[in-house]
Amino acid sequence: MPTLTWPNKDLPAPQPASPFRDAVITPQGSPNPQNSPSNRLYLGDNLTIMAALLPEYAGKIDLIYTDPPFFTNRKFPARIGRGEDSRKPKDWLLAEGYADNWHSLDDYIQFLYERLSLMHRLLAPNGTIYLHLDWHADAYARLLLDEIFGPESLLNEIIWAYHGPSPIRTAFNRKHDTILACTKGPGYTFNADSVRVPYDPTTVKTFAASTKAGFGKIPDLQRGKVPEDWWYFPVVARLHNERTGYPTQKPEALLERIILASSNPGDLVADFFCGSGTTPLVAARHGRRFLATDTTFRAIHTARERLVRQGTAPFELWDTPQSGRHPMLLQGVFPGPEKSPSPGSFRAVWCDAPVGKLTFELSPRQIRLASREFIRYWEVDPGFDGQTFHSAAQAVLPVRGGELPTTLPLPQAKTGRPIGIRLISNQGEEFQVVITPP
Ligand SMILES: C[S@@+](CC[C@H](N)C(=O)[O-])C[C@H]1O[C@@H](n2cnc3c(N)ncnc32)[C@H](O)[C@@H]1O
Repeated sequence: MPTLTWPNKDLPAPQPASPFRDAVITPQGSPNPQNSPSNRLYLGDNLTIMAALLPEYAGKIDLIYTDPPFFTNRKFPARIGRGEDSRKPKDWLLAEGYADNWHSLDDYIQFLYERLSLMHRLLAPNGTIYLHLDWHADAYARLLLDEIFGPESLLNEIIWAYHGPSPIRTAFNRKHDTILACTKGPGYTFNADSVRVPYDPTTVKTFAASTKAGFGKIPDLQRGKVPEDWWYFPVVARLHNERTGYPTQKPEALLERIILASSNPGDLVADFFCGSGTTPLVAARHGRRFLATDTTFRAIHTARERLVRQGTAPFELWDTPQSGRHPMLLQGVFPGPEKSPSPGSFRAVWCDAPVGKLTFELSPRQIRLASREFIRYWEVDPGFDGQTFHSAAQAVLPVRGGELPTTLPLPQAKTGRPIGIRLISNQGEEFQVVITPP
């Protein structure tokens, strides 16, 4: 079997990170809070996180979809603020998204090799992996998959075709990605009936005119057909509600087809380069459990917002000491110096954040954020233990128009128990305030 070699090709023993559980988030409307939901978002380098997951998850993951950097040698900025609404380009702000820059192709291939090898160990014996790349590196990845999963493992080479503007005038416009799907062993899941699509109108018309059309087989026109291995889905573009502003976000419809075809309800689905969280979102929507990792806080927060908005499942946020995340701990002044303007509220707390003054009004059953211009997300833990943040209620900036909700319920708040508040600014900064009502 031909194999790919490169200088310094190596498979060193992976060094596990020491992930710690930072938060348990129970979106409003999702089933009862669970102390330890099996859905997890991890912030950090997936190499060390996957190594840390081995003792618990080796051979346990049913489906991996993975969409790593493509070896484009570009930086991809994120659009923030109301950047997701591209009809108002003046409201866009560009911020750091993620970098796809490499010293050499060898470095990139080594990066993929180590990570695909760990994914192979984590995948269940009958699991399936979908590796999403494009012309920059898909040929090398095919050889890596052959080596790691075996040459017989290729289930499909899927072409995802799309359209959009392109500056290229010296070649055909490059408008497809390649998704290599491999199975680890026999007995893999493929739910053909869950992903059927209608036949082309021309096929329907032809068979309506004569049942003798085609190659002698009469298709079940009502049932639809199993899709070919070339797919058309529009990219997540300006007017799409699902657009988050996170760069290279993949369409939910694409993930839906993969998840429905290659997993069952209750299965564990993982995405170790999760970006804006399309995989965990669609997995949760269809009753699958998920594990997802990304190195950027912006990605993990974007995924959190999407999961909270959808509200289908509780999940945990895990961090690693090396992630570089430092929520700014703000000192609240309590009782606040200002008289609270709204009737029924009895205490005001304020704190100075770099984005401006944040004022909270506390009443027995709810908390109000009196200053919201700089904030896109906030959540409360009515009995913060100082370690794991149990987010019981959340407010998220609506996708299109509308304002950030300013009141959140405080169902189990008790006098003397600290209330934890976490906020994310439009720029993506994270703040934490702890208030202990007297
Ligand atoms: C192509 S994007 C994924 C987009 C995603 N599929 C979506 O729908 O939004 C690749 C992601 O990989 C992340 N990434 C790059 N290197 C990583 C690493 N070593 N560990 C974890 N994530 C990484 C980047 O931060 C980026 O968000």
